[in-house]
Parts: sequence; C-alpha cells; structure tokens
Amino acid sequence: MRTEQPKVIHLKDYQVPDYLIDETHLTFELYEDRSLVHAQLVMRRNPEAGAGLPPLQLHGQDLELISLALNDRQLGLGDYEVAEESLTLQPDAASFTLDSTVVIHPESNTALEGLYKSGSMFCTQCEAEGFRKITYYLDRPDVMSKFTTTVSAEKHAYPILLSNGNPIASGEEDDGRHWTTWEDPFKKPAYLFALVAGDLWCVEDSFTTMSGRDVALRIYVEPENIDKCQHAMDSLKKSMKWDEDAYGREYDLDIFMIVAVNDFNMGAMENKGLNIFNSSAVLARAETATDAAHQRVEAIVAHEYFHNWTGNRVTCRDWFQLSLKEGFTVFRDAQFSADMNSPTVKRVEDVSYLRTHQFAEDAGPMAHSVRPESFIEISNFYTLTVYEKGAEVVRMIQTLLGEEGFRKGSDLYFERHDGQAVTVDDFVKAMEDANGADLTQFKRWYSQAGTPRLSVSEQYDAAAKTYSLTFRQSCPPTPGQSEKLAFVIPVSMGLLDGQGNEIALRLQGEDASVGTTRVLAVDQPEQTFTFVGVSEQPLPSLLRGFSAPVKLEFPYSRDQLMFLMQHDSDGFNRWEAGQQLSVQVLQDMIGQHQRGEALQLDQRLVEALRSQLEDESLDQAMVAEMLSLPSEAYLTEISEVADVDAIHQAREFARQGISSALFDLFWKRYQANREISRQTPYVAQAEHFARRALQNIALSYLMLSGKPEVVAACVDQFEEADNMTERLTALAVLVNSGFEAERDKALASFAEHFKDNPLVMDQWFSVQAGNTQPGGLERVQQLMQHPAFTLKNPNKVRALIGAFANQNLVNYHRADGAGYRFLADQVIVLNKLNPQIASRLLAPLTRWRKYDAGRQGLMKAELERILASGELSSDVYEVVSKSLA
Ligand code: PHE
Ligand code: ZN
Repeated sequence: MRTEQPKVIHLKDYQVPDYLIDETHLTFELYEDRSLVHAQLVMRRNPEAGAGLPPLQLHGQDLELISLALNDRQLGLGDYEVAEESLTLQPDAASFTLDSTVVIHPESNTALEGLYKSGSMFCTQCEAEGFRKITYYLDRPDVMSKFTTTVSAEKHAYPILLSNGNPIASGEEDDGRHWTTWEDPFKKPAYLFALVAGDLWCVEDSFTTMSGRDVALRIYVEPENIDKCQHAMDSLKKSMKWDEDAYGREYDLDIFMIVAVNDFNMGAMENKGLNIFNSSAVLARAETATDAAHQRVEAIVAHEYFHNWTGNRVTCRDWFQLSLKEGFTVFRDAQFSADMNSPTVKRVEDVSYLRTHQFAEDAGPMAHSVRPESFIEISNFYTLTVYEKGAEVVRMIQTLLGEEGFRKGSDLYFERHDGQAVTVDDFVKAMEDANGADLTQFKRWYSQAGTPRLSVSEQYDAAAKTYSLTFRQSCPPTPGQSEKLAFVIPVSMGLLDGQGNEIALRLQGEDASVGTTRVLAVDQPEQTFTFVGVSEQPLPSLLRGFSAPVKLEFPYSRDQLMFLMQHDSDGFNRWEAGQQLSVQVLQDMIGQHQRGEALQLDQRLVEALRSQLEDESLDQAMVAEMLSLPSEAYLTEISEVADVDAIHQAREFARQGISSALFDLFWKRYQANREISRQTPYVAQAEHFARRALQNIALSYLMLSGKPEVVAACVDQFEEADNMTERLTALAVLVNSGFEAERDKALASFAEHFKDNPLVMDQWFSVQAGNTQPGGLERVQQLMQHPAFTLKNPNKVRALIGAFANQNLVNYHRADGAGYRFLADQVIVLNKLNPQIASRLLAPLTRWRKYDAGRQGLMKAELERILASGELSSDVYEVVSKSLA
C-alpha cells in the first residue's frame, strides 16, 4: 500500500540509466513460509550517462534485506540506505559486482505480482514492475542483462523447476531438496524474467524452424488438465509457422515452454522462452470450452509467441512505449486469427469490441493517448487504448503503405533494432525509411487521445458527371488535451451504382481509373475529393474494413443501408450497414420509450434480417453477426445520456418482434444445424464455429416465443450436446427465460457435473451474473457465498462481479444505487488483496458522466467513499482520483 504521496511519472523526464547490469545471477531457495533470493549483479557505469560515479539507486519493494556485498566486501548499515521502494549505495569504481540476499513471502502474496503461489505451485509475474518485489534491481526495460537462474525447492512437492532459456545443470541434496540452473543466452529486461516450481505434467511436441532447427515445445499444466492442452499446442505450432511466413521471424531458443496457472491477473505473459498463462487462455477441449474460448486460446497463444520478436528481441525503452510491443503484437495476432479463421468475422468482432469499449475509454476520465504522457501506476495503462487502438494505428500504417511496404518496414525495424530497447518513434522511422514515406502528421495518432469524428457529405453533378465527398474531422477534448490537430485518416472506400455494381474510381486529375476500392488519406480539418466520369448518382461505401478508428457520420437513409447490406462488395461494410440500420431503428424506439409511447419496430429491419436468414448461401457466421443486435453497452456508448431502462426495453422489444416475425425461419435453420451438430464430432474450425453460431443465436430468438417445442429442444440441447458451445448457450437461454423448473434443474446438474473444473464453474457464474431479470444483484450476492467462489482468484472476480457490472446493465444500474454500492464494496476489499484487479473492476463506476443526474450522484458518492476508505493502492487511487477530477 502507498504511504507516500503518489508520484506522477512523465515521459518528458526520461533519462538513460546511470548504471547497466551485464550479468544477473539469481538463486532462489523456495520454502513454504518464506523464500530467499540471492542476486549477483555484474554492473558498470553507463558510458552514455556522463562522467563521474553517481549514487546507485536500485528498485525494491516488500523485500527484507539480509546481506549486501560490493565486490565481495560485506556492507554495513552506514554503507547504504534502504527506503520503502529503493536501496541506495555509492559505488567506488566504474565496474563492480553487487551481491544481495533478501527474504520474500510468495506464500502470502495475493497481489499476484512478483513471486507468488498459485495453488500449490510457485510462479512469477514481473511485467511491468514486479521484478522489484523479487530482488533489488534496476527494474526498467532499458536495462537488459544476461540471466542465469538457479531454483532450489523440496523435490517431492516441486519436481519441476523452470526458468528462462536452457537448463544447464541440476542436482539433488540430502535433505530431499533439488535444484536446476537455467541460462538465458539473450539479454533481456527484468520484466521478462520468469520462474515456475511445481508438480506439473507436460505435453510435448516439436517444431522445425525455417532454418532447420528443432525446437522442443512443452505445455506444463496440473495433472488433471493434461487432456486439455492439444488445442494450445496446435495453435502454437501454427503461430510459429505463420510468423515465419508472414514476417520472416524464426524462433531462437531450443525450448519453448508454456505454463498454465489458475491465479493470474491478465491473460498471459510473454516471458522469454517461458510464457506463463492464465489457465483460461490455455486449456480448451470440446466438453469444457466454448468456440469463443477455443478462439481466444488460439489468439493468446499466438500473441504471446509473437512477442518473442515484437517485445522481447526488440523491447520497449520505457513504459510509455508500451504500445510499441502491445499494439503491434495485437495487430499481428489479429492478422493471424484472420488467416486461420474468417477474416470478416474476425474484423467484425474486433471492431465491435473496439467501438463498445475503447471508444468508451476514450470518452471517459481515464482517456489517454496510445503513447501516454504521464502515469501514476503503469499497471493502469494496460488498456484498450494501448492494446486495441494501438493495433488500429499499426493497421492504418499498413493501409497507407500497402502490405509490401509494411513488410519492408517491419523487416528494417527488426534488422535495425534487434537486441535493443526502443521507442514508438523508432518503429515509425523504420516504416518511413523503408518506404520513403513521411509519417510526421500521422504520428498524432500516438499523442492525441479521443475518438475522431469524421462527417461526410456528398455532391453529385449530373451534367459534369462528377461526384464529390467532403470530409470534416474533429476530435472532442480529453483530459489535459483541449485542442486537437488534424489526424491522417485513411478512408478505404468505393462507390456503388443503382444496380449495386462497383464503379471504377478516378479522381480529378488522374488519367485513368484506379480500381474500385481505394484509400483516401484525409489529413485536413476539411477536405473534398472529387471523382470524375461518374454517370449516375452513386451510393458511397465508406471506411471499408473499418480502415480507421473514427466515428463516421454519413446521412444514410434506411433504404440505402438495406441496399448496402445486399450489395456492398466489402463484407465488413455489409455488416456495418446492418448495424447502422439496427441502431437507427433502436434509437427510434428508445425515444418512443422515453416519451411514454407504444414501441414500434420498423419492419424494414425485420425484412432485412429475413433476407439474411433465407439466403442459405451466405456465411452463417456473418448471418449470426447480422442477427446480433447492437449490445446495450454499445447503445450506451453512442448515447449522449444513456437511458439504461429505455435501451433495455427497446432492444428486448425488437428481439421479441424479430423472434415472432421470423419464427419459422429460425426454427428451420436451428433444426437443420442442430441435426448436423448431433451427427458431427466437435471440430474447432471456422465453418463449424459458423454453424454453431447461427444455431445458437436462432435458439436464443426462438426461446423468446416460449413455445413448448422450443423449450424441449433447448433442454435437449443442454442435456445431449457433446460440447460446451451448445450446452452453455442452452443454459444461458434457460437462465434468462421464465421456465424456472427447467432453469433450476439445468443449473444444478451443470454445477454438479463440473464442480471440480474451475474454468467451467466460471462460465456457470457468468451466465447467472448476466441474467437480466429483476433481482440480479441479490443473485450475485448469493453466488458470492458459493463454495466455488473466492475473491482471491481473478477469474472468479471477473466471471461473477465483472460480468455483472459490465454485462448486466439494467441490474447493475438499478436506480437506487445498490449495484454501485456493491461494486464499491468489492473494490474496497480487493484494494488490499489485489490492487490491479481492484482497479480494473472499478471501470464501470468511472463512466458516471454518461448517466442521468440521479445515477451520476450515486456513482460519484461511491467513488468518494472508496477514496475515503483508507490506504489506497496507487492503482485504485489513480483511477478514482482521475474519475472525480
Ligand atoms: N504483456 C502481456 C501481454 O499482453 C500482458 C500482461 C501485462 C500480463 C502485465 C501480465 C502483466 O501479452
Ligand atoms: Zn501483449
């Protein structure tokens, strides 16, 4: 906990380190009631930092110093100074060796940062600044060192001892303990250090790299999970191959290891050669994990593997550059997932997620640029903006330079900076130099926060056969940035004629037309592009593939949107037209609800969806996406003031209307797909995901009818399905229905069957947390008493409390504020247990400006109560104080 005033760290204050650490030799002695860490650091003055020998200040937190020696000379109390977060001493030569021994307490580390215990195993999490909780060190990413690590532990309980690199020695001792020494030949920052000790089994495989080297692949899990590793292993091999093909990047060590742990704050961590994963991001098999979970495992395995080049071989100079590795790596994993599955479906999912959650962050009190300028607690900046918007920025660079140009740029980046700790500027410079491009103005995407608006108007001149598009861009103010300069916005676009055919595009001044889709680089506050030779009034298809993370405004009529849904050659924009149509229809109904009028569902939406469902030649996954109305969270994001109840009522009314109008079609397609599912063993592949997606959304609409044959089919799917995708949807649909007997029976039998599988129980909690029927808060409070629930496990917190506050909006936003009070209570408890999780859980309280005055007051009161609740972690303090500012 913080006892000093929180310090704000600024990018502009960056200075190179005074000292460097060439070698780091660590020895861990692990015990049940404490652990000892011996560190030998081979250090020298940094020649780039100037003359003289300034004091050496090492980072350290929650460490009990036992001994300290400089060049083998034992130091006494007067020789150094220990403060809450540092150790300072005066070196007497430019090169020296520092030996320290500290005692730490992994057995009581509930923050899950540094060395901690997850169940019976020891593991570490060092990014961003967790290494300083292990030993005194220069815990900053621009200090890169060669690590040797010896781990010693009791042999029976901890037969497996792992660290980064290759094992080089091991031995046994008389007292039942054993040890292993690992050596990592690559220099790395401390945040990539890892250690694991436990009773683990492993699945083994191998991969031959493009230069013919054999790499051993191992996935370590607790024995009961050994049957759930194959999908992750397959994903790993695909990732290794893909990175060779797409980026020319080869793996560099002889072993690549993944370890699954149950208690983990994030998804996974890219430690060199020893990735540590949240078990939810590794374990997947048909019976226990949904299609979405399978795809998440594939994406996260790829993401962490790709970090070996984008993050590890080339790392970040400081934490302000976090998006250098995260934005690029998310972009890479998205390209990979698109190649492995359906590119359009992947893009639709990513864009929905970005627009719902990142746009909300960009509009809230924690808004920050992709490269933030300051922070109090770096853990708070592992955000949607740094990750997802950061990936969009990389994607825009690719759109502007073309695929080939982008690859030239990435090749140059790796060649120039291998083994270095660099900045976002270095990345952009490589892209510029490889292409002779100037990205100076483009770089505003890294420094300006907020979501730009792009409003577009058109003018058609029939006589001159010219068609002009005028773009006006603006960006709302964000904390600390009132004025914004024009962005470079790549607008991929096309024009459709009255038959829905693409028009060849020729801009004024060009000799010939250039294709039917092209990218306009909008870089002025207001700018007009004129196309010539346009012989009829066209319909524009704008921002194809969502070519920039902006809010596009064009006054489409509903009929035009229906036309685009049918004819646009861009699959993403066909979906987007459907979303916009749905949004218009729903917003009408939200207004009707607010005025106390009877709700009217525009039948054009029903007809548009009918034509999707009728056409069996369409990609079923895309039909399922089309049928998924914009979420309540997205409708909230695009509202000026979000009316929680009106949004819920309008959306439910629309779902009812669609269900009854299209019942027969839903029923037909449901039964056909369910029949195939019945006869086909589970396969984790795109076409099977697609079939189940349509089947499941059909079931959710069908159940709104309450017809006995549907309820029977739902119960049958719940009981008979051989996979979690079908079973969990059936359960979720029952839980949200009024069929109490069926619901209670299904919940009980599910819990009985899966009580020993924590990841499946997480899904059981989530399904109930998301039940929008009245009484949601009481149900969640009761579920917190369930023996499978614990606040100490982040997955449980997310599954129950996180799902409630983020997905069950009508219940969480209850007008009396009980939902807010509940969330604040949990944050106050978690602040002491696990500050990172507490701080993340807070997000729904920080969005108070979106709501009516009554709710605003209630939410602010809870934020103030948290602020006054006692000693706050820097994590919680930063988010709460910025939200109230
Ligand atoms: N670097 C990890 C990733 O994105 C995320 C992470 C950050 C994990 C901090 C743990 C702690 O791949
Ligand atoms: Zn990452």
